[in-house]
Parts: sequence; structure tokens; C-alpha cells
Amino acid sequence: MSIARLATFAFSGIETLPVEVQVQISAGLPAFMVVGLPDKAVAESRERVRAALTGLGLSLPPKRVLVNLAPADIQKEGSHFDLPIALAVLAAMDVVPREELAGFAALGELALDGAIGPVAGILPAALGAAARGLGLICPGAQGPEAAWAGEIEILAAGDLRQLIAHLTGRQVLAPPAAPALQAEAPGGPCLSDVKGQESAKRAMEIAAAGQHNLLLIGPPGSGKSMLAARLPTLLPDLTPREALEVSLVRSVAGLIEHGRISSRPPFRDPHHSASQAALVGGGPRAKPGEISLAHRGVLFLDEWPEFPRPALEALRQPMESGVCTISRAAAHVTYPARVQLVAAMNPCRCGHLGDQPRECGQAPRCGEQYQGRLSGPLLDRMDLTIGMAPIPPSELARAPRGENSPAVARRVAQARALQRDRSGTVNAEATLEELTGRTDPDALSLAERAAVQLGLSSRGFTRCFRVARSIADLAGDEVIRRAHMAEALAFRHRVPGQAMR
Ligand SMILES: Nc1ncnc2c1ncn2[C@@H]1O[C@H](COP(=O)(O)OP(=O)(O)OP(=O)(O)O)[C@@H](O)[C@H]1O
Ligand SMILES: [Mg+2]
Repeated sequence: MSIARLATFAFSGIETLPVEVQVQISAGLPAFMVVGLPDKAVAESRERVRAALTGLGLSLPPKRVLVNLAPADIQKEGSHFDLPIALAVLAAMDVVPREELAGFAALGELALDGAIGPVAGILPAALGAAARGLGLICPGAQGPEAAWAGEIEILAAGDLRQLIAHLTGRQVLAPPAAPALQAEAPGGPCLSDVKGQESAKRAMEIAAAGQHNLLLIGPPGSGKSMLAARLPTLLPDLTPREALEVSLVRSVAGLIEHGRISSRPPFRDPHHSASQAALVGGGPRAKPGEISLAHRGVLFLDEWPEFPRPALEALRQPMESGVCTISRAAAHVTYPARVQLVAAMNPCRCGHLGDQPRECGQAPRCGEQYQGRLSGPLLDRMDLTIGMAPIPPSELARAPRGENSPAVARRVAQARALQRDRSGTVNAEATLEELTGRTDPDALSLAERAAVQLGLSSRGFTRCFRVARSIADLAGDEVIRRAHMAEALAFRHRVPGQAMR
């Protein structure tokens, strides 16, 4: 009895690993078995496949049906193996011609009535299929997502019946089209709503220009959350390559709807009750965490010290390397995680440390305790720290509206263009050598002196240069001057407590 075969994929992060579904029907006691390191969802495929075939008026032959997922040493997870298993079984039963399946990989979940439901990872699977010269058979609703892979044949079917009709030449499925990449205007509230707070706005502009990490510290109601929510309106569009990277992560997380892919950088603001798995990824399926969903965009952590400590510490490694590695029993899974971290916090629990009449009786100890929840290495990764004082209600009512988001976004875009032309990356990724090469000797000696006085780590020293580079870029200056460096140093976080008092 010959073996029917169909290609499909397992996933490791956003990478696809080719898997072949092999089905053999042989004489013996009636049985339907799946082997090849299946997890629970894959093992349950048997029941869904059996039910879907029954729904079509077909039943499994009263023989021994063996399904092997090769290679056997990769863990097979998820429900997307239903469809390739069902199709390979149908080929083994000679319901669909085997040669029709030879040029395809397939992915999809089956409902008991034979409907093909959406699964995560269609975009990487379509790219994986294209790279191997195959077409893709996928759920009907996800045809447009698969179509982003370009010139590949896609069979997107709503249910198994339509798919069989197509494969046996009785009906033709229309090829899906990827929706146009819409030129979206940066959505969200406008920066001009924020009255005053000039230095905080300046810090945010610099952070946006070079993708630097930003920490906003201030009492309740000083406008920290309000300001951070306006950061997306200052950021330029993603390049097509970046948009693809972002979409691959979203696809693996099952978050792409109707094949819509955005050219806007992601902005993720998880609640402070988020667990470590939610923040950096993990859990039973090693799903991407918020830091990976924010890849090439902003991860905003409001009420920063309120996050669970292990979750915060787990951010350290990806913040430095730009990738997030999740350890699992059998293997490591890696997701991209190059983010701009923006954090907001009160200086202490009551929030009024430093505001004499309103300070609680425990100041300044309460502040030290509260800020102590953030480790030194974590604070060392913050490029710009700004203390925000609330603006008095009288001023709030009378102050004129400030500059609007598009005006600031234009300066940010110009500064980004300079960075792209110079090094092909953003300043947040520049190396110290690249930076010192174009630094005024005055600025260099200022930085060296300040490094001693402020007790900067080598990381802090490099980060100051990166910020100074962005300040120079905003000024359209090819060289980092003393004034640029002085401004960068002024935004450097100092020993907790000092910066806020
Ligand atoms: N500079 C400002 N210009 C205009 N409105 C402001 C400003 N600062 C604060 N507000 C008003 O105060 C509200 C509260 O601000 P926001 O929520 O950003 O404060 P916060 O600093 O995040 O406080 P908390 O520490 O309590 O989270 C805003 O929604 C806005 O209406
Ligand atoms: Mg807030």
C-alpha cells in the first residue's frame, strides 16, 4: 500500500519548520493513529478529522490508518495539522488525487462539520511554502493574509467539501488577493492637547527621533499617560521590510484580521497585572509576549514599578539584544523584540514625593522603597528620564495649545532620514565607535567628565552618545557638539530619588 504525503509546517518562533504528513492505510484491525511527537491538540485531530469526513458522507475504511508527522523529533503543536492530516487521509483513500497535493503545503483547523477554521502562522507558512516552491492550502478567511507571500498558488477554502471539489476538478476556487497596504495616517490623540510640559515633550521628540527608551516620572495627574499615548503620532511609517517582520509576529500570535497588514509601528500598553509570560512570551505554547508584539514599535509600561518584578527583570535581556528567547523543555524559541520602551511612574506610592505640602509622612523613605522595585540594570537601560511636575489648573485653562503632532512628526522623520543615510539603522542601535567618530572634542571631554561625576556605566556612557546623536540629528548637525551632549546628559537618569527630588 503506497503512502500519501502532504507538506505542512511546525513553528519555532516566527520560523517555519517543514513537516510532512504521511498516511498509510493497511490491512489490520480498524484503527486511526497519529504518531510523530504530537501534542494534545494534534492528538485530538483524529477526532475532528473523523467527524469532518463523516460530515462529508465518507467514513474511514475499516483498516489500520496510520498518520506519521515527520520528522518525528520536532514537537508538533496546535490544531493547524487537522487540514493536512484530513487531506492526506483523503488522498490515501483515493478521494482526492495524490499528485494534486504534491505541489502544496496545507494548514487549517477542522470543525466537526468540515468547515476550515483560522489558525495562527499563515503568513510565515505562506512565505515558507513560497521558499520551497510550493503553493498553500489554507482556511478561506485567511486567503488574503497568505496572499502577502506574493507569487504563490493559494487555495483558500471555507470547508473541506469546496476543497475536494477543487482538487478533483469539479469546481474552481477563486484565488484570494492581499488587501492594499493602506496609507494610514498616524492615528491617536494630538500632541497639541498637552499644555506646557515643554521639556517632557522635548524628551519625547528626541526619544521618537532615535527610538530611545524613555522614563516619565511625576505625581498623579501630571500628564504622563496622556503624553505617552501621543508618542505613536510622532513615529514614522515602518519600511516594507519592518512591516513584514511585525506582521510575522502578529500572524504567529493569530492577530492578523482579514489579511490587513499595517505600516504603522505597533504600540502595546499591557496592564501592570501582566505576567512574565504575557510580557516576554512563554506559556504552554510559547506564544510571543508583549515585547515581541511591540517589535519595531513602542512598549509602554504605565505604572512601571507595579509590574511583577520577575516580569520586569525578564525584559532586560531582550532590551539589550533585540530578541527574546523563551526556554522550553525541549528547545529554545526565539522571537524578535526590538522595542522602544516607554515607562511612566509616580515617584512614590502616594505619588507626591517632592511636593512639600502634599508629601506623606514617610517621605523620602517611601520614595526609595517604591523606586527600589526597579533594579539598577533596568534603570540603566532608560536613555531619557524626565521628571514631570503638574501644571497648575490656572495655567491649564489659559495656556495656548502647543505644537501639533504632524509638525513634530516631520522633524522626527527628517532626523530618521539622516540616521538611515548614515548607518542604515536608528541611533538606538548605533555603536560607540560610529558615534565618537563624529563628535566634537569638547563634547567628548564633557561626556568623559560627566561619566565620572555621574558614575555612568559603559552602557550608560554609550547610551548618552546615542541620545546626543539624535539631538544633533534633530538640529540637522552632522557632528555631536557640546550643547547636544550637555542636553543628553541632563536627561540621563541619576541615582533613584535624586532625579525626582
Ligand atoms: N499638561 C496637560 N495639558 C492638558 N491636560 C492635562 C495636562 N496634564 C494633565 N492633564 C489632564 O489630566 C488628566 C490626567 O493626566 P494623566 O492621566 O496623563 O496623568 P498621569 O500623570 O498619568 O497620572 P497618574 O500618575 O495618576 O497615572 C489628563 O487626561 C488631562 O485631562
Ligand atoms: Mg497615568
